[in-house]
Amino acid sequence: MFAMVYEGPGQRKWQTVPDPEIRHAGDAIVRVDAVTICGTDLHILKGDVPEVDSGRILGHEAVGTVTATGSAVQTLSPGDRVLVSCISACGACRYCRQGHYGQCLGGGGWILGHLIDGTQAEYVRVPFADNSTHTVPSGVSDEQMIVLADILPTSYEVGVLAGAVTPGDVVAIVGAGPIGLAAILTAKLYSPSHIVAIDLADARLDAARALGADLTVNSRSQSAREIVDDVTAGIGADVVMEAVGVPETFEESVRLVRPGGHVANIGVHGAPATLHLEQIWSKNLTITTGLVDTFSTPTLIGLVASGRLDTTPMVTHRFAMDEFDTAYQVFEDAAHSGALKVLMTATA
Ligand SMILES: NC(=O)c1ccc[n+]([C@@H]2O[C@H](COP(=O)([O-])OP(=O)(O)OC[C@H]3O[C@@H](n4cnc5c(N)ncnc54)[C@H](O)[C@@H]3O)[C@@H](O)[C@H]2O)c1
Ligand SMILES: [Zn+2]
Ligand SMILES: [Zn+2]
Repeated sequence: MFAMVYEGPGQRKWQTVPDPEIRHAGDAIVRVDAVTICGTDLHILKGDVPEVDSGRILGHEAVGTVTATGSAVQTLSPGDRVLVSCISACGACRYCRQGHYGQCLGGGGWILGHLIDGTQAEYVRVPFADNSTHTVPSGVSDEQMIVLADILPTSYEVGVLAGAVTPGDVVAIVGAGPIGLAAILTAKLYSPSHIVAIDLADARLDAARALGADLTVNSRSQSAREIVDDVTAGIGADVVMEAVGVPETFEESVRLVRPGGHVANIGVHGAPATLHLEQIWSKNLTITTGLVDTFSTPTLIGLVASGRLDTTPMVTHRFAMDEFDTAYQVFEDAAHSGALKVLMTATA
């Protein structure tokens, strides 16, 4: 089969590799019908995720069709259409028993395209398949479903639920990439009074408005705090979500929140950020951070299937799988291409 193989920092190649096979009784083999690229794949390619070995097939998001199942798989059969989640789950460890699949101690967690071969391929081996896939409801397209593999549950769980958004809140979202935009979509489920999106790129702010942000701030030229103050009588936002992953934006998020409010950090950070306890100790803040668990994926699938959540604007570019190289270039050049999620579909 063909697959996108990581060959060390800065190097990737769409090339022929052996087909995956069942290795453990809980495995399924899934033919990949639709697959996408995540900002995290770009982090891997930069060399920021050193545990990814050269030779690893990238990718942790897919929609596909089961072609084979191991002897212990109970709920899947060949021919079933499934969402392959970015998080795999043994289902039996202490964390899985509590729904914290991202912290799985039994060999799951974020492993696809990280510690084992991933989904940017014609076929993928999915471990613990009963717990690591979700059936696609009839009538829901691959394109509607693909963003539920990672970005929607991430923004919903680590941003909206951890940030405890409630009706009437003023919600500020720092960073309007796919994660920040998915946070806008899922925050709207809770009827905030205002969503303020903050970014440096006007194209991203245009997308934020299209997805439901009420106010946008280009922090190159505008003060986010002034705009948040305008709609909060000067006290700050009820909930601030950090969706960039650099020290400045975490520190900005803490500056934007009101006393008693929540800061929900979603960004993956590679450098220390300063927590100004001397300024905030008396503000009764709740600051949360985390890796997605994907416990909310069934809820989100239900919202998409019922038409309550429209995920289609998140997919901006479509390619056949043999155009994978071009898709990477378009995604890497998001500032010019306007790419949010790029979708590759099977050609055969
Ligand atoms: N916690 C999790 O489980 C989890 C899962 C997936 C992704 N993430 C992380 O979420 C973050 C966002 O992901 P993404 O795919 O949307 O990334 P992205 O790089 O596509 O988007 C980031 C956005 O932030 C903007 N930005 C950069 N610097 C800024 C600044 N100083 N002020 C305001 N905006 C600024 C950029 O213009 C861009 O639009 C990343 O750090 C990613 O690794 C976390
Ligand atoms: Zn991802
Ligand atoms: Zn587990």
